[in-house]
Amino acid sequence: MHNIFNYLNLVWFPRIFIFFAFLISFTFRTENLTAQHYALSSPDKNLNSEIKITPDGSITYSLTFKDRKVLNPGSLGLNLKNQPDFSNGFLAVSEEKSSQNNSWEPVWGEESTIINHYNQLELSLSHAQTDRVIHLQFRLFDDGLAFRYHFPRQSNLSYFTIADELTTFNLMENHTAFWIPGDYDTNEYPYFTTKLSEIDATRAQHFSEIGVKNIVGENVVQTPLTMIGGDKDLFISIHEAALKGYPAMYADVDRSTFSVKAELAHDKNGNKAYLQTPFTTPWRVILVTEQPEDLLASRTILNLNEPSKIEDTDWIKPQKYVGIWWEMHAAGKSWNYADVSNIKLDQVDWDTLKPNGRHGATTKRAKTYIDFAADHGFESVLIEGWNVGWEDWYGNGKEEVFDFVTPYPDFDVKKVTAYAKKKGVKVMMHHETSGSVTNFERRMDEAYDFMDNYGYESVKTGYVGGIIPRSEYHDSQWMVDHFIRVAEKTAERNILLNSHESTRPTGLHRTWPNWLASESARGNEFNAWSSGNPPEHETILPFTRILGGPMDYTPGIFQIKLDYYNSESPWQVKTTLAKQLALYVTIYSPLQMAADLPENYERFPDAFQFIKDVPVDWSDSRYLDAFPGDYIAIARKDKHSDNWFIGAITDEKARNFDLNLDFLEKNSTYTAIIYGDSEDAHWKENPMSYEIKELQEITSQSNLQLNLKPGGGAAVMLKKVK
Ligand code: NOJ
Ligand code: CA
Repeated sequence: MHNIFNYLNLVWFPRIFIFFAFLISFTFRTENLTAQHYALSSPDKNLNSEIKITPDGSITYSLTFKDRKVLNPGSLGLNLKNQPDFSNGFLAVSEEKSSQNNSWEPVWGEESTIINHYNQLELSLSHAQTDRVIHLQFRLFDDGLAFRYHFPRQSNLSYFTIADELTTFNLMENHTAFWIPGDYDTNEYPYFTTKLSEIDATRAQHFSEIGVKNIVGENVVQTPLTMIGGDKDLFISIHEAALKGYPAMYADVDRSTFSVKAELAHDKNGNKAYLQTPFTTPWRVILVTEQPEDLLASRTILNLNEPSKIEDTDWIKPQKYVGIWWEMHAAGKSWNYADVSNIKLDQVDWDTLKPNGRHGATTKRAKTYIDFAADHGFESVLIEGWNVGWEDWYGNGKEEVFDFVTPYPDFDVKKVTAYAKKKGVKVMMHHETSGSVTNFERRMDEAYDFMDNYGYESVKTGYVGGIIPRSEYHDSQWMVDHFIRVAEKTAERNILLNSHESTRPTGLHRTWPNWLASESARGNEFNAWSSGNPPEHETILPFTRILGGPMDYTPGIFQIKLDYYNSESPWQVKTTLAKQLALYVTIYSPLQMAADLPENYERFPDAFQFIKDVPVDWSDSRYLDAFPGDYIAIARKDKHSDNWFIGAITDEKARNFDLNLDFLEKNSTYTAIIYGDSEDAHWKENPMSYEIKELQEITSQSNLQLNLKPGGGAAVMLKKVK
C-alpha cells in the first residue's frame, strides 16, 4: 500500500505523528473492511515476503523462495499480561521502505569483511481498542527474513509484562529437522534427526549426565532449528538475533500442521518478559538457502546485531589455550582440594584440611602447563579448581558456594601468575558460579579487581546447576541480561570472556567482541564421562548452535579411549585423532583450546604440530562441501599469513573428498601437509591411527583427495611457497 501516509516520512514516532496515527485509526476503524497488503523482496529478488493486515486487524506474513512457498501466512504479535487482546484490531498507519548495502570489518571472524545487504519495510500499527502503537520492522537479505517488534514510548503504555508472543512460522512441509529439546536450563543434548511430525522432546529425558534439565514440552525444541526440505534442496533455520532484555525463544512445533510458534522462556512466576517502553524485541530470523554450504556462510545473524560497543579493540586477541581441565574430566583429577562436604566458606581453615591427593590445580602442575604453553606458543593457560569451595559446589541449591578470590593452600596464585608473566603466558581465570548468580553478582567487582591485581586477562565463566535467584532459569529474561552484564563488565575492564552454560548465542559477540566464545551446547567434555557425542555431532553443530556464534568446543583430544587412565572406563571420544585436528577448522571459534594433557601431545609431536600451526582468526572462509549430519569440508585463509587451512570431517561413514582448490592464489605454489586417517583408522576400532603426508607443487589448478574413515577427518595446512 503506497498510500498518502508515506509523505509523512516519519518512522520512530515524533509526537505529531502519533496524533495523526490516532486520527487516522479512528477514521478508518469502521471502514477497514479490506486487508492491507505490503510486499518486500530480497536484494536478489529470490526471497519475497508478503505482509498483510487482515480485515479484523490481525497481522500475518508469508515467505517464498524463487517460486516455492517457504512459509504460509503466519501470525505476528504479542499479548500483554492483564491487558486487552493484542492479537487483532490493528491498522497500519504508515509504511517506510529502505535499503542498506554496505560492509563492515569484524574485530575477528571467519572473514575480514562482511557484506550487509538488505531491503527493509517498517510498518507503524495502531491498535484501535487501546490506542496503543507498535512498529514492525522486516528485513529481507538474500539468505533470510528477519523481523522484530518495537514498542515506542507512548502515553498509555509504559510498564508491561509479556504474556505470550504470537509469532508463528508456518512451514510448508514435514521437513527433516535437527533438534534438541527446548529446555529452560540447558542446551547440552546430542541432536535428534527426525521429521517435524516425529519430534518428541521427552525422548531426551534419560540424559542423566546433564545436571539440570527442564524440558519445556513434548513438541518444543531449541533454536536454531535447522531443517531440510524439498528434494534436499531447501535448507531452513529458525533462530533469533540480538537477544537482549528478553527471554530466549524456543520453537513449539505443531506436529500435524508444521506450524512453529515462538515459545518464550518464562520465570518461575510464569512471566515471560518485564518491559518498559521504548523497547525493541530481538529479531526473529528464518534463514533460507538452496545449498547447505550457504547456511554456513550466512552472516545475517551478525548483520542484525549492533556494531561493537567497544571502541578500542586492539586488546582483543583471538587465541589458543591449554589448561588444567581435561585431567579432571577424564583422568581422575579433582577440582576440590579435600574430600569433605558441608563447607561454609567463612568457617573453614583450609590449611587444616587433609588434601585428597587428586587436586588438579596445584602450583607445580600449573607451572608444567605454563612451560608447555610457552614452549609451544599458546597464549593462555586455563586453571580450574584453583579456588576454594569445590568440596560441595554442585547441586545443593547453596548460595555462598565460591568467593572467586581465595586460592586453595596448594595453589600459590602469586607464584603462578609471576611465573606465567616471566614465561610470557597469561593465566585464564575460571569463575564457576554453580548457578548461584546472586552470589556472583555480589562478588563480581571484587573478582575482577583480583584479576587486575594478578594480571589475568581472560575469564571462563560457568553456570552448572539450578539458577539462584530461584525464580530464574538459564534462559529466562533476567539471566539473558546477566550474561550481557558480564560481557559489559568484562569489556570495561579489558577482559576476554568465554561463557559456559550460558543462553545459546544470537550474534551478540559483534556488539561485545571481548565475548570470544560460549559453550551453550554439548561440548567435547561429554565424551569424558557419558555416552558422549556420536560421530555425527560435530557435523550438525555448525548448522545449528554455531549459527548464533562461536563455540568453545574444546577439541584436540589425542588419547581417544579413556581406559588409558582407568581400566574400567567405558568412555571414549567418538572420533579419530585426525578428526580432532580437523575440528579446529570446521568448528569456528576465535578461542580454541588444545584440550588434552601436555603428556599426550608429547607422545604425538608430529600431529600436535597442526594444533600449533592452525590459526584462530581468518581473512576468508570457503564452505567447500557440507551436509548437516553427514560431513563438512571448509577452507580458511589465515588472517596473518598467506597460508590456507582445510578441515574435513565425516559422521560414522567413511567418505572421500575430491576438493577443488581454485580459491588458492593464482600463480602461487603451496606445499600441502595432510594430517589424515590411516587406512585402518576407525573412530571405535582404531581411532588413534593417523598419517601425515606432504604434497609439493600444489596450485589453484590442483585437486586434493582426502580419504576419511568412519568417524574420521583430515586437517590440511597449505603453506605458500612462492
Ligand atoms: C562445565 C563446563 O562446561 C566445564 O568446562 C567445566 O570444567 C565444568 N563445568 C566445571 O566448571
Ligand atoms: Ca558444560
